[in-house]
Amino acid sequence: MNAKKIAGEKAVEHVRDGMVVGLGTGSTAFWVVRKLGEKVKNGLNIKGIPTSKSTQKLAIEMNIPLITFSDVNHIDITIDGADEISSTLDLIKGGGGALLREKIVAFASEKFVVVADESKYVKELGSFSLPVEITPFGFEATKREIQKFKCLTKIRKLEKNEPFITDNGNYILDCYFELIEDPSHLHTQLNMIPGVVENGLFVNMVDQVIIGYNDGEVKVLDKLE
Ligand code: 5RP
Repeated sequence: MNAKKIAGEKAVEHVRDGMVVGLGTGSTAFWVVRKLGEKVKNGLNIKGIPTSKSTQKLAIEMNIPLITFSDVNHIDITIDGADEISSTLDLIKGGGGALLREKIVAFASEKFVVVADESKYVKELGSFSLPVEITPFGFEATKREIQKFKCLTKIRKLEKNEPFITDNGNYILDCYFELIEDPSHLHTQLNMIPGVVENGLFVNMVDQVIIGYNDGEVKVLDKLE
């Protein structure tokens, strides 16, 4: 069974008429947007805020009405994927390069629900390289500063060896730590470096995680209050 689809569609059960919904990015969030599109077709009245140009395109195809931060000052719920989810429900995000918009939208949301297949649920963060969005200007200097945190770094590239450019015109530096012992501390330290726009650690932001399993099971994990 498609574990990503199971998780994504389960999360859509949270969405009610009249809500403003943050629309995540990636192959799991894809199923969320698809399901919301179906529901809109059947009369659900929502407005979406996409977290990337690719999700914006998909939402338009699905006829989901879209708005921006200039239209509202409140997002009811955001549903998005993740690259790693720890046992404390902290995340690594940005595998698709959309981490900055994803974090802005999640932070502005009353409820942040993460959907993933079972492979993303880990004990501690760090096996997945941490994506850090950095400005093209001075990226070599920014990279050197980040390497002081004892990680292996790589500027994300496209097939033709061109740098991957985010929706915001920046680079992604993928940083391999192996193990991130203190995500909160690392998050703060990274964001203090000039040239770092944002990093893919989402610490203490999640309200609920929905994990889909290949055997069709679905598990819902709520943040401990
Ligand atoms: C994009 C993200 C995605 O949510 C993350 O990469 C998970 O993607 P997928 O659901 O395709 O595995 O953070 O920037």
